[in-house]
Amino acid sequence: MTRHFLTGAELTAAELDALLVRALELKRAPLSSRVLEGKSVGLIFQKPSTRTRVSFEVGIGELGGHAVVLRSDELQLSRGEALRDTALVLSRHLAALGVRSDADETVQELAEHSAIPVINMLTPLHHPCQALADLLTLREACGSLAGLRVAFIGDGNNVARSLALLGTLAGIDLAVASPPGYTLGADLPLPAGGRGSLSLHAAPQEAVAGARAVYTDVWVSMGDESSAAKRRAALDGYRVDDALLDAAAPGAFAMHDLPAHPGEEISAEVLYGTRQRIWEQAENRRHAQKALLELLVSAP
Ligand code: CP
Repeated sequence: MTRHFLTGAELTAAELDALLVRALELKRAPLSSRVLEGKSVGLIFQKPSTRTRVSFEVGIGELGGHAVVLRSDELQLSRGEALRDTALVLSRHLAALGVRSDADETVQELAEHSAIPVINMLTPLHHPCQALADLLTLREACGSLAGLRVAFIGDGNNVARSLALLGTLAGIDLAVASPPGYTLGADLPLPAGGRGSLSLHAAPQEAVAGARAVYTDVWVSMGDESSAAKRRAALDGYRVDDALLDAAAPGAFAMHDLPAHPGEEISAEVLYGTRQRIWEQAENRRHAQKALLELLVSAP
């Protein structure tokens, strides 16, 4: 049975734990696995990317494989070829397929017709590869994830949703603070077997109380540009700065999936200072995704 990674809920808690352990091993010994020797992995980008593209492309090379980067405007998809036919053809050449799309349905349809694992590299609702790197970063910094309180400040977007899904599966107690109209759904279905919890707040100070890490993301994500002014007005006050970190647990650090807008959702002092693990988090994309690729292409 082909295993896909579309939301993160495809993993059990035990598999997620093992994946993070394996990612740490691969971080220590980056060239120790040749699981993709003689294999190619396709990467379809319908939207821009810096971290995802580089971390996947370099990671695939480190695993002995070859990355085939496919811009959507260069594919026959852009001229109306069916997603089903694209999936059937790519399955004949590739060992796995990553997709960044402006529609969750596109990734789901590709997976439905694909004989190879399909990986969600960002959609409007989910960013599960980012969440894997986030959990790896938290594990490195804090040790066990069970009962670890983490705050997310700002828009309840795809990054927040994936952190909630995979974080609670890993045992994190996630507190999300958002203004009205930008909240993560209180009815978000959390994966079965998760040991953590999700709480929703309005006040950032309330969410960060006791938190070991304080996460934020941009106020205007890709695709939200038409409502940029309204979003900036609503999210003003949901900024991670030194004062907010002071209200969190002693030694708390900031996280951000990047790209950042210093002065908006995060202060420049925090982004480039010592109270963050943001650049480590960006590196961890590669190690976490290598462990994911190992799991998916080795599945029976
Ligand atoms: N965090 C993230 O997905 O970055 P990119 O958009 O640069 O890939």
